[in-house]
This record gives sequence, structure tokens and C-alpha cells, in this order.
Amino acid sequence: MTSRNNGISIKTHLLSKTFGPVHAVRNVDLEVASGSRFGFLGPNGAGKTTTVRMLSGLMKPTSGTAEVLGMDILSQASDVRKSTGLLPESPGLYSKLSATEFLEFIGTLNSLKGEVLHKRIDRLLSLLGLEGRQDDLLETYSSGMKQKVLVASALLHEPRVVFLDEPTSRLDPSAGALVKDLIHALAEEMETTFFICTHQTSFAEDVCDIVGIINDGALVVVGSPAEIVTSTGVDDLEDAYLQIIGGKIDRTSLLSWR
Ligand SMILES: Nc1ncnc2c1ncn2[C@@H]1O[C@H](COP(=O)(O)OP(=O)(O)O)[C@@H](O)[C@H]1O
Ligand SMILES: [Mg+2]
Repeated sequence: MTSRNNGISIKTHLLSKTFGPVHAVRNVDLEVASGSRFGFLGPNGAGKTTTVRMLSGLMKPTSGTAEVLGMDILSQASDVRKSTGLLPESPGLYSKLSATEFLEFIGTLNSLKGEVLHKRIDRLLSLLGLEGRQDDLLETYSSGMKQKVLVASALLHEPRVVFLDEPTSRLDPSAGALVKDLIHALAEEMETTFFICTHQTSFAEDVCDIVGIINDGALVVVGSPAEIVTSTGVDDLEDAYLQIIGGKIDRTSLLSWR
């Protein structure tokens, strides 16, 4: 076991980002254990994407610090970018390429080539269950299959930390389930830390071992789904989430609109 950084892959201290008057991320203190599946749960506009952009070395914080795999996100931003993988919120994909060609292209951008690259592509395609379709153009793929290829492209250079920003939000339920299963399988297979942004409590519950809830830029609670449910004294993670983000919905009154 590598116990570099005492088993912590991501550590932030008072991490903050403002855009003019908007406080997108406020004084976030967070530790994510190596090898965990961390769910970053919060409503639209909570600050999830901004946090991920800072942690993957793409955007500088306004104040505060963070280390990813022991590297400072400000002074070692390019090393952070090389050692992490990112599936952005709205990724682009070249639909006139096959899955293999697309992954070869992404591999080349990450300085991978030859046998190493092709072995990784073959292994990921088989993990993804895409063997047999790998030479078909991506434009013929379903949305779930495309998303799988994009997840593969974020993992191709074998990053030890991978950020997935809303990996199932744009998918229909069956494609979402496919991608959920894939993340499960990959997390079992690889010694990778998964940092997954979502606004879906069911996703966090099914896929993540630890969840952090962010609301209006502030990290409100961190714990296992069961711990969060217990500490809020409600029945399930969805109710806990609604209570925490202050949007408690009275379903009885919603149903008695007449
Ligand atoms: N580049 C930007 N310029 C100005 N405001 C931004 C920018 N990016 C994000 N914001 C604002 O920061 C807040 C957090 O956004 P974001 O991190 O995208 O939230 P989430 O991913 O949780 O939906 C929102 O109010 C958003 O409008
Ligand atoms: Mg977002």
C-alpha cells in the first residue's frame, strides 16, 4: 500500500472562489481519503463545478489552499492536471471517430502511445462492455454508451484521482444506471479516488461511500449516507438533503393543490 499523504488524496483549507459579487465557494475545509468514492452533492449553483475546476488545476482559488495527491493546486497546477482525470459537465466528443480512435486521440494528448496505450484501451473497452462496438462511429452510440467512452477517456492515463462532474445528469434513467454500474466496477478494479459531483441523492446513495453536501458555496456536512440520515433524524438521504439545503418540501400540501 502506498501511504503517501497519510491516505488522504484531497485536502482543502479555507478554499474559496468569488466571481465579482458571487461567492461561488466559501471557506471549504475538506479531506477525501484515497480510494474512496466521494459524492459532492448539492443543488444547481451550489459551487460543485467551481470546486472541481480548482481541484483539477484549471482555475485558481481566490483564497485558501488545496493539495491533490500531495501537490499544491496553485504552485503545481500542471502536475495536478497531469495526475488527475476530469469528466467535465458538458464534454465534447468527436462523433466521426470510433471509440478506439477517440481513445487513441485522447491517449496521444496524454503522451501515451504504442503497446501501453493499446493495452489500456482494450482493458477499458472490455470493462465498459463495449467490445465488438469499438470500431463503430461514436455517432451510432446511445447516450449511455457515449458517456461510458467519456468516462474511459478520463481514466485512460490512469489518474489516481478522477473528477466526474454530473456523470449521469443528462442521461435517461437506463443510461444513468449503466454509467452508475460502470463507476462501481471501475472503483472496485482501480486504486483511484473518485470525486463525483451530483445533484441526485439516489446517485450519491447508490455509488458513494462518503458524501459531502454543499449549499450556496459552503460545505454543510460530510459523512456516509447512513451517518447523514441518522444525524438529521429523517428517513432517507433525500429528506436529509432537502432539510440540509433548506428546501424541505411538504408533500401533503403539494398533493392537495385542489
Ligand atoms: N465563470 C463564472 N463567472 C461568473 N459566475 C460563475 C462562473 N462560474 C460559476 N459561477 C457562479 O458560481 C456559482 C456556483 O456555480 P457552479 O460551481 O457552476 O455550481 P454547480 O456546479 O454546483 O451547479 C453560481 O452562482 C454560478 O452562477
Ligand atoms: Mg456544475
